[in-house]
Amino acid sequence: MGKKVGIIGAGAVGATTAYTLSMMGVCKEIVLFDIAEGVAEGKAIDIGQSNYYSSCAGTIVTAAKTPADIKDCDIVVITAGVPRKGDMTREDLLMINAKIIKSVTQDIMKYSPNAIIISVSNPLDVMTYAIHKITGWESNRVIGMAGALDGSRMAYQIYKKLGYGAGQTGSLVIGDHGQNMIPLPQQVKIGAVPATAVLSKKDMEEIIERTKNGGAEIVKHLGTSGYYAPARAIAYMVEAILTDADIMVSCSVLLNGEYGYRDVSVGVPVILGKNGVKKIVEISLDKETSAKFKISVESIKEGIDILDKNNFFDD
Ligand code: NAI
Ligand code: 2OP
Repeated sequence: MGKKVGIIGAGAVGATTAYTLSMMGVCKEIVLFDIAEGVAEGKAIDIGQSNYYSSCAGTIVTAAKTPADIKDCDIVVITAGVPRKGDMTREDLLMINAKIIKSVTQDIMKYSPNAIIISVSNPLDVMTYAIHKITGWESNRVIGMAGALDGSRMAYQIYKKLGYGAGQTGSLVIGDHGQNMIPLPQQVKIGAVPATAVLSKKDMEEIIERTKNGGAEIVKHLGTSGYYAPARAIAYMVEAILTDADIMVSCSVLLNGEYGYRDVSVGVPVILGKNGVKKIVEISLDKETSAKFKISVESIKEGIDILDKNNFFDD
């Protein structure tokens, strides 16, 4: 322990990430920043007080008064954004969130120039791409969190079907973090046994559909998106980086020829360690999965084109 994590956006996901990290005790210091007055301060105090009953009670949780206080972080997690409201189109929302991401990214470049960025705000893959373009940093240092969450949703669905194998079930979801995501339960094992040996084709189809709708199902019940599983997935990635764990997990990363694409950020399996993405792992995709991956990449490129059309990358 001895590392500093900044979290920009102390809403549901940001604050729950801070709480999860402090319960896990994987970093020395967490700094929260939110544009809404009092939010980061209040949550930092509350989380700090919860630490007394954590077995690793040492994490210091503070609120940044200005973006300049998010300084010298090893990792910065971006969860800032606004939800879609009333008459906003998807394009309106994309542009509003992209402007927020641009401003917070510029602050990170100024105050935590050596950090690794974990991007979370939606639309995830487009925002992650935007952060790559704004920073111009080495691509291993900008990582979108989506596959870790979608994978946990897939493993949850498998466990619900089987009733055994929790903690022994692998997961793999590639593609975009949206309607075209590609859960691949047929690629995973439960213990040493391939999922295909214990799940029927119909089971697999249901698992794929329920994984894809995993976020929407929560919104249907709560009226807002989930935050416990997203926060745990972010914390899993933070821990892997801070402990140089070299784990394999699906993340949205900038492709440079891998899988046949370049200049787009999309979910693929990577190895995560102390420098962020150590390696992009290329698995062979069958014809059907390749076609789905193409659709997924194209849907992300449509979002990037909207940013381009609105001159987002010009200054
Ligand atoms: P939320 O609305 O609870 O929190 C967002 C926070 O960002 C608010 O507190 C707001 O005041 C703050 N904010 C807005 N502009 C800011 C700025 N310029 N600087 C600092 N803070 C600013 O939303 P929630 O539920 O925490 O979700 C956050 C984002 O994460 C959303 O875009 C959501 O869609 C996305 N998300 C992504 C997931 C993924 O798998 N990648 C999973 C779950 C959520
Ligand atoms: C989710 O998957 C909204 O991206 C968010 O829950």
